[in-house]
Amino acid sequence: MTPSTAIKLAPSILSADFARLGEAVAEATRAGADYIHVDVMDGRYVPNLTFGAPMVKALRPWTSLPLDVHLMIVEPERSIKQFAEAGANILTVHAEACVHLHRVVHQIKEAGLRAGVAINPATPVAAIEEVLPDLDLVLVMSVNPGFPAQEFISSALDKLHRLRRRLDVLGAQAEVEVDGGINEATAAEAVRAGATVLVAGSAVFNQRESVREAMERLRNAVGPAKLSP
Ligand code: DX5
Ligand code: ZN
Repeated sequence: MTPSTAIKLAPSILSADFARLGEAVAEATRAGADYIHVDVMDGRYVPNLTFGAPMVKALRPWTSLPLDVHLMIVEPERSIKQFAEAGANILTVHAEACVHLHRVVHQIKEAGLRAGVAINPATPVAAIEEVLPDLDLVLVMSVNPGFPAQEFISSALDKLHRLRRRLDVLGAQAEVEVDGGINEATAAEAVRAGATVLVAGSAVFNQRESVREAMERLRNAVGPAKLSP
């Protein structure tokens, strides 16, 4: 990453009001988000249940931003076509949920989507080493997936560093996204460690301030010059 790399913000609607998700997406879009992060949970891969492709389809008309869909589901290969048809742009699967990760990554690309792979806090970068050159995005989980508003696990910083070095050595172009516990205190550290896309749920959708104010706060924490406007 060069010092001038623009850092992207991807608000996670997991922390928004589920009764008005379309408006939340529109609000984040107006506030200058780069991606809309959509957390799909199946109650099996993670102990929580959210929504699926029909929700992606329902949200599609509310924004022209890329929908960054994070699949926390078992057998994600069964749902690729559905999410593509629903209007997803980036589809991220968990390495731990895929028996044949290489195949799944290529199925996502063949469906015309950008392919991402997520790794949990206990999963090493080495687990996805062989597919790094094929990826559009690597998602480093800085909490155990399933819930918003958990505490940032600091070992993710060293992992981000190692991932960044490995991508640079390979000349691979994948974006590096960090997800979980991102707030004013942790955002800058994550960026220094090599993250280029920050997912933030509870720090963006909260009762204290508007989405615009919350995103501004994150931008300032990272350093205004580094974030896209
Ligand atoms: C957690 C999800 C995250 C979550 C992050 O399983 O993948 O995207 O929304 O929430 P915060 O930013 O509150 O930690
Ligand atoms: Zn997520």
